[in-house]
Amino acid sequence: MNTQKLKTEASAYRETVEKSAAILKNGGIVAIPTETVYGLAASALDDNAIKKVFTAKGRPQDNPLIVHISSMDTLFEIAQNIPEKALLCAEKFWPGPLTMVLERTDKTAKSVSAGLNTVAVRMPDNSVALDVITVSGLPLAAPSANTSGSPSPTKAEHVEADLDGKIDAIIFSEECAIGVESTVVSFCCNPPRLLRPGAVTAEQLREILPDLVIDSAVLAEPEKDARVESPGVKYKHYAPKTEAFLVEGNSADFAGLVNSKPDSAAICFAEEADGITVPKLCYGTSENEFTLAHEVFSVLRRVDDLGVKQVYIHAPSKNGVGLAVYNRLLRAAAFRVITL
Ligand code: TXA
Ligand code: MG
Repeated sequence: MNTQKLKTEASAYRETVEKSAAILKNGGIVAIPTETVYGLAASALDDNAIKKVFTAKGRPQDNPLIVHISSMDTLFEIAQNIPEKALLCAEKFWPGPLTMVLERTDKTAKSVSAGLNTVAVRMPDNSVALDVITVSGLPLAAPSANTSGSPSPTKAEHVEADLDGKIDAIIFSEECAIGVESTVVSFCCNPPRLLRPGAVTAEQLREILPDLVIDSAVLAEPEKDARVESPGVKYKHYAPKTEAFLVEGNSADFAGLVNSKPDSAAICFAEEADGITVPKLCYGTSENEFTLAHEVFSVLRRVDDLGVKQVYIHAPSKNGVGLAVYNRLLRAAAFRVITL
C-alpha cells in the first residue's frame, strides 16, 4: 500500500484535513497527531476499519481502543449513565490528556471495546486532531500509531518507521507536546480507578476524585492470568531490543554503577551526563518531569542504535507526570529494577 504523507503547513492544511476525513469516512486508517502521542485513527463506527488498525499495529485483539471526540454531544451518544464526577473531570481536563472509561452504548463498533461493556473516551488537545474529527463527523478510535510493543511515536517520522506501507496516510505535524499517552481513569468501578498515569496527574484528579484508587498494575507486574482492569497493561510495552534495567538511586551511585559495566549504555538526566563515561542518552532534567515525558519514547527508540548489550535507565521521581514516565520505563525494563 502507498502511504500518503500529508503536510500541515498553512497552504496545505485544509486539503490535509479534508483528505484525512474522506479516507476515514471510506473506512481507511490515518495516523494523526495528538498532544500526547501520534494516534492511528479509524472510524469508531466501522468494525472493518478497526480491524485494519489491529492488523497494521499487530495488536492483540483483546486490547480495546480509545475513542477520540471533539464535542460533548458525541460523548452522550457513545457512553451512558455517566457519573457526575466524570462530567466534572471532562469540564476541567478536556480537551486534554485524560481518557475516561465509561459504560458504552451500542453506537460504537464492538471491536473498539474488544468485547467489554465499557468504552474509553477522550477529547484531544490538538487542533489537527480536533479538525479531522469534526470534519469527518466521526468519533475516531485511535491507539498509539506504533507497532505493538515498540515505543509510542511522538514524531511523524516514528510513525513512518513503524507503519509506512501499512496504512493509508500519515499527517506530518509537529512533535507531540506532552510525549506520553493520556491518563486513563475508569468510572466503571467504585471508587474510580487510575489505570494508566499520564500528564493529568493523580494529584490533580484527587481534587475532583478524592477517593481515586491507583491500580496496582501502575507500579507492579500484573500476575500471570490475573484479571486486569485495563487489558493494555498486561503486555510487554515500549521495549527496546537491548536489555534494559531501571535504576533507583542518586547521581553519584548511578554513575558508579554504569561506569563499571563494559558493553553497557546509560539513559540519564542532562545534569549528570558529564560524570558518565559509557555511551549515554539524556532524556531531560530530573528537576522537571515534563522534560522527561517529552523525550522518553524518543530515547527508547534510539537505544538499539548504540550497539550495547545492556542499558541502565536512571529512574525519575514518581511525583506528578513523573509517575507516567516511571510507569513506561518500568515496562521498557520488563520490570527489572535495581535499587542502589
Ligand atoms: O494518549 C493516548 O491515549 C493515545 C493517543 C493516540 O490518544 N492513545 C493511546 O492508545 O495511548 P493505546 O491504545 O495505545 O492505549 C489505550 C489504553 C490501553 O491500555 C487500553 O487497554 C486502555 O487504554 N483501554 C481502552 N479501552 C478501555 C476500556 N474500555 N477499559 C479499560 N481500558 C481501556
Ligand atoms: Mg499504545
